[in-house]
Amino acid sequence: MESTNGKTLSRHDFLQRMGVVGAASIIAPFMSDAGIETSAASRVKIGVIGCGSVSTQYLPHLSKAEHVELVSACDIIPDRARAAADKYGIPNQYTSIEQLLSGAPFDLMVNLTDMQEHGRLNKLALQAGKHVWSEKPMANSYPEGKALLELAKKRSLKLWGAPAVVNSPQFAFMAKAINEEKLGKIAAAHAHYGHLGPHWSAFFYEKGGGSMPDLAVYNLATLTGLLGPVRSVVAMLNIITPSRKVDNRQSPINVEAEDNAMILMEHVSGTLSHVQSGFNYFDPYGHEGSGQTKPTISMWGTKGNMHLIGYDWAPAAVEMATLDHEKTERYATDAKGYVWQEGASVVARSLATGSDTLIAAEHSLHVLELIGAARESQASGKRITIESRFKWPVLR
Ligand SMILES: NC(=O)c1ccc[n+]([C@@H]2O[C@H](COP(=O)([O-])OP(=O)(O)OC[C@H]3O[C@@H](n4cnc5c(N)ncnc54)[C@H](O)[C@@H]3O)[C@@H](O)[C@H]2O)c1
Repeated sequence: MESTNGKTLSRHDFLQRMGVVGAASIIAPFMSDAGIETSAASRVKIGVIGCGSVSTQYLPHLSKAEHVELVSACDIIPDRARAAADKYGIPNQYTSIEQLLSGAPFDLMVNLTDMQEHGRLNKLALQAGKHVWSEKPMANSYPEGKALLELAKKRSLKLWGAPAVVNSPQFAFMAKAINEEKLGKIAAAHAHYGHLGPHWSAFFYEKGGGSMPDLAVYNLATLTGLLGPVRSVVAMLNIITPSRKVDNRQSPINVEAEDNAMILMEHVSGTLSHVQSGFNYFDPYGHEGSGQTKPTISMWGTKGNMHLIGYDWAPAAVEMATLDHEKTERYATDAKGYVWQEGASVVARSLATGSDTLIAAEHSLHVLELIGAARESQASGKRITIESRFKWPVLR
């Protein structure tokens, strides 16, 4: 039972009032480990699809999250679904999305599959009445993402796409400084993220993959989250390493997607910003990025400059110097519980309690349009106009 304005509501009534009822399954009462019926609306049943590398970061987090009940694990590689289910005590395991969707009832699908599968699988889940949290990108193209969002809205379902960068306290610090005009008029910004490329799966290098949907996506979400929507894009993309050896292919593969990207953006505000990403960056901090102590995002305005220390998905601090305080100082050094893999648990909390999320599908869609525009700019040599917008400022 859930109490709203002093009135006691059933789990079903509560979720319906929140506008998040997706499946008949969510009517079922939740029994705690102790066998006591607890607040039924406080847990969201989750089906995880894709039990590869990133699931080893998601599942430990989700298995401890307050508003989460892990119901099903699914992977086309049966051993992976089995291993995830065994390790985290997930009662059901499947080897196809069809089995997952017609199997044990759940509310939210967490999509951790190959990037190229996201659009197709997210659509099937929405059609089956499931809310969706998707690893990036939310879809394979801007038109596909737009159609997904329309479908979700039509069916009163929620759709969210990674990353969760807007949740970090360092993002909040930077957003507040910008809102308070500590930097004056912001003219320029830069962001970068790269390493030597994932070695475990070929999809990162196949058509629809590349460093933009895998890496630049974080910087694009951060810069647009801080500086607002983008009006137009110019980009240059290429392939630096045309052949690679990856763990899930016997022979070296031909790299089809860019592994080296330079994206130049004009924000609606007038700020010019730049993102670079790639799979050919020697980086002593490795794929995990731990120990990165240098700025990866910088911005400059008429009254100040500001630098995010560490990667935006796992930031360490913010450094800022302003007209009023010329000496560069370090701020926001406490993660306050933020972790990059928290997106799915944060949206589960939102479904369970009706809390707002800073992560918004419209923002993810905007980032998806930027990635598509960068590819179009490279192909045509032209500057590409961006049509999508999202609610901004993300934080007031
Ligand atoms: N690995 C990371 O550290 C990391 C970090 C952040 C985000 N991501 C994102 O997570 C996603 C997955 O990346 P990964 O590194 O875990 O890749 P991965 O190859 O290790 O895992 C993907 C899994 O999805 C499964 N899969 C593919 N198609 C499927 C389908 N149709 N149905 C069911 N299962 C299917 C594969 O068998 C595989 O086990 C990507 O979008 C990636 O960008 C990865």
